[in-house]
Amino acid sequence: MFRRRIAAALLLVVLPLAAACEDATPKYSLHGVMLQMDWETKQVERNLGSPSTALSSLESLKRWGTDPAFERHLARSSFQGDPAEFRNLHKLFLQRLDASLMAARANDPARVASTYAPLRMSCELCHAKFQPKPR
Ligand code: HEC
Repeated sequence: MFRRRIAAALLLVVLPLAAACEDATPKYSLHGVMLQMDWETKQVERNLGSPSTALSSLESLKRWGTDPAFERHLARSSFQGDPAEFRNLHKLFLQRLDASLMAARANDPARVASTYAPLRMSCELCHAKFQPKPR
């Protein structure tokens, strides 16, 4: 009798918790997003002469580049440095990405190529300040 009540009470706690977990968006880290971005960036680099192919990778880069994992990263206790600076560098990256996207949409290989180096540089600007250094 008593045991059954405990079991019922446990269910009352566990079921809503399980339901909440199922609804929650997966909380993958910025690290996982970076691996995707790295892959897409390599595809762009490989297709600088072919804007229509580069375009689909640039669009994926935009999806990953606007992922909420960027903001979640700032909330981590391990985050060091200035969140405003991180957001500025994130914005710079997105601006340069938009320049490459426009060039690819305009089917302009010369402009896709000339906007690539500044885009790549914006990755490094953020890493120089915010990517944990290997010890
Ligand atoms: C606004 C900041 C920011 C921008 C912009 C940014 N990164 Fe990162 N990147 C990070 C941080 C922070 C880490 C470390 C994440 C971690 O390990 O938790 C990281 C890690 C990485 C890693 C290392 C993954 C590993 O195996 O440890 C790669 C590769 C990477 N980024 C690629 C890129 C590329 C390519 C771009 C540009 C297209 C880019 N990143 C733009 C902040 C940024």
